[in-house]
Amino acid sequence: MANFLVFTFYIVLVLSLANGYINGVDAGRPFFVFGDSLVDNGNNNFLATLARADAPPYGIDYPTGRPTGRFSNGLNIPDLISKELGSEPTLPYLSPKLRGEKLLVGANFASAGVGILNDTGFQFIELIRMHKQLDHFEEYQKKLSVIIGDEKAIRLVNGALVLISCGGNDFVNNYYLMSNSLRSRQYDLPKFVNYLITEYKKILLRLYDLGARRVIVTGTGPMGCVPAELALRGGPNDECSAELERAASLYNSQLFKMIVELNREKGSDVFFIVRMDEKGDFQTEFVETKEACCGQGPYNGIGLCTLASNICQNREDYLFWDSFHPSEKANKLIVEKIMTASTEFIYPMNLSTILALDSKNNNTI
Ligand SMILES: *[C@@H]1O[C@H](CO)[C@@H](O)[C@H](O)[C@H]1NC(C)=O
Ligand SMILES: *[C@@H]1O[C@H](CO)[C@@H](O)[C@H](O)[C@H]1NC(C)=O
Repeated sequence: MANFLVFTFYIVLVLSLANGYINGVDAGRPFFVFGDSLVDNGNNNFLATLARADAPPYGIDYPTGRPTGRFSNGLNIPDLISKELGSEPTLPYLSPKLRGEKLLVGANFASAGVGILNDTGFQFIELIRMHKQLDHFEEYQKKLSVIIGDEKAIRLVNGALVLISCGGNDFVNNYYLMSNSLRSRQYDLPKFVNYLITEYKKILLRLYDLGARRVIVTGTGPMGCVPAELALRGGPNDECSAELERAASLYNSQLFKMIVELNREKGSDVFFIVRMDEKGDFQTEFVETKEACCGQGPYNGIGLCTLASNICQNREDYLFWDSFHPSEKANKLIVEKIMTASTEFIYPMNLSTILALDSKNNNTI
């Protein structure tokens, strides 16, 4: 009888693992997320920080209709990638729910407001800076080892997909935060960009040393054209801020070069760079591409998005949800492109190709 029970349990376990369904956990390929507000799933809810999205109307189109800490009206980029992987959304690393078999899904280490540099986002008070996010990743792996053993934990991490979004805040919330910022007195723009790229490379190398082998790196979006910057620095005829557009273009081209160099050094396609700054890209998909759905002042680009703000009715019509962040619809289009676009958008290959290659090589646990 005991043997029969053990056997039955074994069969159930094998069948559920085959379906990627483990004791009530939807786990496809493990997924780890690092970086800023574009990808934070709610870590900042647990911090004493000003960078938060845990009050309505954030989350108005989320399945629960409630705020979660995501800087979106609904799903964000990591949620939509999780769907493609056949997994439930990654839990914030600071969430008490992230324990036991939930650890097999992966984890979200991101924190809204952070940048590559430690001094970025200081005005938000508490943040989980990049080096700390990586410390958390190390800590996570220890917890995982306790559950599945060292060897399987390493294999799980090596077989995972990783997403990192970082760098935009080093401009809007540091270099350009005030005229005459400390960093802008220290460096001219090209030198500042070089410094950022040098520091970002160290972060990516540490991620590699911690076991990441498939890492999607997003470039910065069209920073000069977000509603906040149109309101603050734009031209009289809806022109984007030329200075921030120059910063985005310098940064993105240097980032691209660095990624190519890193892959060459590692002798393998570990890092994948996503272009996010093609302004023309989504113009035809939206009725409104300049004004935020939620906010106040010119372009709804001033201050925070709160229940006191203007809130648009047809959120699918808007490229921007708030003064800095894309709408759920825009996030869907971005992830569609990450999955299937040509090397112009994601280099050296798109995510559907990565997933197909890896399932052929049986690169997951
Ligand atoms: C940020 O702080 C950490 C911990 O103090 C340090 O290891 C790292 O080098 C710092 N990064 C930069 C860019 O100064
Ligand atoms: C995705 O990448 C593969 C391989 O590079 C390519 O064959 C395919 O055409 C890409 N998808 C699209 C829509 O371009």
